[in-house]
Amino acid sequence: MKRFSPLLIVVVVILGILFLRPRWYLNLTKNVEVSPASGATLVDKYNCRQCHQIEGRGALKAPSLDGVVARLDGATLRLWLESPRKVKANTAMPNFYLSDSEIDAIIEYLITLKEE
Ligand code: HEC
Repeated sequence: MKRFSPLLIVVVVILGILFLRPRWYLNLTKNVEVSPASGATLVDKYNCRQCHQIEGRGALKAPSLDGVVARLDGATLRLWLESPRKVKANTAMPNFYLSDSEIDAIIEYLITLKEE
């Protein structure tokens, strides 16, 4: 039987990681400071306002995120950011493949927003 070349195995593993983006890989490559300010920067970076209203600005294609922490429990909020389809299978909210620190920072920012 012909053996797989070690190089081929390495290439397949790397492509698999880039495609599946496991949590440890996200945490390794996207490690951010956990603060409301860095959360606000991430909300701009990932363009959440394309769908959500945040601090009164943004589109109305999705629920406003002002006061969202009062509506959702912590675990559900985190799951929305981690993997939206795990909360709602047919949701239009994309998975941004956020790292744990990015999620923590966005949550710290969302906590500062009061319902308009
Ligand atoms: C392409 C549009 C789109 C973008 C971009 C988007 N979302 Fe969403 N999001 C949605 C939709 C639609 C829902 C409502 C889901 C549903 O009910 O199907 C949602 C739901 C949520 C919820 C739960 C809200 C609630 O009241 O239940 C949170 C939290 C959230 N999004 C955060 C974010 C954050 C943070 C970003 C940026 C990183 C973001 N979203 C980017 C479309 C989007």
